[in-house]
Amino acid sequence: MQVNSYLYVLMIVCSGLTLCVPTGNQTGLGSGNEVPPLLLVSFDGFRADYLNNYSFPNLEKFFSDGVLVHELTNVFTTKTFPNHYSLVTGLYAESHGMLANVMYDSVSNKTFSIKNDSDPFWWDEATPIWVSVEESGYKAAAAMWPGTDVSIQNHTLKHKFKYNPKMTFQNRLGNLTQWMTEDRSVKFSTLYWEEPDRSGHMYGPDNTTEMSRVLKEVDGHIGFLMEQLNRTGLWGKINVIITSDHGMTQCSQERVIKLDDCIHPSSYRVVDLTPVGAVIPLGDNSTVYKNLSRCHPHMKVYLKDEVPDRLHYKNNARIQPIILVADEGWTIVKNGRLPRLGDHGYDNTFPSMHPFLAAHGPAFRKGYKMSSLNSVDLYPLMCHLLGIPPKPNNGSFTYVRCALVNEQCGQLALAVGIVIGVLIILTTFTCLFKLMKNRDVSSSRPFARLELEEDDDDVPLLE
Ligand SMILES: *[C@@H]1O[C@H](CO)[C@@H](O)[C@H](O)[C@H]1NC(C)=O
Ligand SMILES: *[C@@H]1O[C@H](CO)[C@@H](O)[C@H](O)[C@H]1NC(C)=O
Ligand SMILES: *[C@@H]1O[C@H](CO)[C@@H](O)[C@H](O)[C@H]1NC(C)=O
Ligand SMILES: *[C@@H]1O[C@H](CO)[C@@H](O)[C@H](O)[C@H]1NC(C)=O
Ligand SMILES: *[C@@H]1O[C@H](CO)[C@@H](O)[C@H](O)[C@H]1NC(C)=O
Ligand SMILES: *[C@@H]1O[C@H](CO)[C@@H](O)[C@H](O)[C@H]1NC(C)=O
Ligand SMILES: [Zn+2]
Repeated sequence: MQVNSYLYVLMIVCSGLTLCVPTGNQTGLGSGNEVPPLLLVSFDGFRADYLNNYSFPNLEKFFSDGVLVHELTNVFTTKTFPNHYSLVTGLYAESHGMLANVMYDSVSNKTFSIKNDSDPFWWDEATPIWVSVEESGYKAAAAMWPGTDVSIQNHTLKHKFKYNPKMTFQNRLGNLTQWMTEDRSVKFSTLYWEEPDRSGHMYGPDNTTEMSRVLKEVDGHIGFLMEQLNRTGLWGKINVIITSDHGMTQCSQERVIKLDDCIHPSSYRVVDLTPVGAVIPLGDNSTVYKNLSRCHPHMKVYLKDEVPDRLHYKNNARIQPIILVADEGWTIVKNGRLPRLGDHGYDNTFPSMHPFLAAHGPAFRKGYKMSSLNSVDLYPLMCHLLGIPPKPNNGSFTYVRCALVNEQCGQLALAVGIVIGVLIILTTFTCLFKLMKNRDVSSSRPFARLELEEDDDDVPLLE
């Protein structure tokens, strides 16, 4: 029986080896040695289920000839900066250091906010893919993706814009396609657009009138993108990924948690407030913690060390001593009224916080759908598409490879691996068995027959 468990291990190793053999060219290309450029697009706050509840003729055209991933499990906190940085680094927030849209570092006394975001200090704990692309000898171009206008790892992009929310979608894309067509060494481009996030916050996702208006506009931008790529000869030649950072949920004046009702305003300082609060106690730590813990049934309160592991939101000096997490749809304020009708940032297991992903291009399957992926898996995928070495990350290529035309994957690959593994083992052991059995009998016909016999030893293999 011990032999059997050994066999199982061997079998798993064999099937694993089979899975690891790359089946396509490293670059995943159609023709020639050249790496096709990759365009990564984010429509901020595009909740996954908008796809089920609204109509997107252009986006459907895009993924019907490519890949659709219904839901991406993103990272905590489900805010804009943490998730955009995870998409381009493959790291959880605690590992890339971009922990929230507002941060404070007590050692340097520095503060980060969306309006004050260009100090490399906040970005340098990770290396985004555009830096690696340029270190590999290619060029990268960017239009407004968070962090692309910052010098990270002492590296400044030449093809980029200073963040300007007023620049139109057409101008952002127009400049990117111009850079891509004029300079063949531009292999990675990234584009960011503020909607449907802005409208989601303002009206709340339950406002179907406003949401259908803005989502129609977003779909129009996707139509423009396909036309523009077609016009410039890039459509079908480059790989395009359209995705988002997080979803959106409805908030209400009926679901407000007021911290000042529970704790004296002078006994704490908030660095960030809702739906994830970052609190620095100014008096006695344990009193502040105790009062906050009792504050509201719809607010979880953690000491930094007690934040659940699954959130990957603990191991970083920038995380404040007390973390508050509101339940879905609840808003934390110090006092006063609801600031926004829609919000995100909540626990990343809520489907309402998840975005989608669609992809099109020579590397991708056509008409292929997947139910879900982890957003950190996008990074190893993009490195694979560009043929550049990934930095250490929290993603995995195992599942995301299924989206690619040149990769074996999933059930089929596993089945093939197991069958081959079993065959190798059966053959090896049958040979050995025969060899040993025949050794005493005669030397004239040791390898003559390899047929399987009804041996007691072989049967348990297939249990
Ligand atoms: C990989 O790409 C090269 C260059 O285009 C080509 O010659 C070669 O046949 C390809 N190999 C495979 C396994 O597709
Ligand atoms: C920290 O910075 C703030 C302004 O950003 C300043 O008012 C304060 O004095 C600084 N504190 C220390 C200890 O330097
Ligand atoms: C950044 O690059 C500049 C110019 O190449 C160089 O002078 C400087 O020392 C570098 N800084 C760091 C921290 O590497
Ligand atoms: C690039 O952006 C600028 C605005 O910053 C705009 O004037 C120009 O037309 C854009 N170029 C293209 C090719 O779209
Ligand atoms: C690209 O342009 C051609 C010719 O104008 C048109 O037939 C085709 O449908 C376009 N494809 C897309 C995806 O827009
Ligand atoms: C995520 O990746 C980083 C870099 O490799 C590593 O230091 C960290 O431990 C990883 N986190 C988890 C939860 O595996
Ligand atoms: Zn966002």
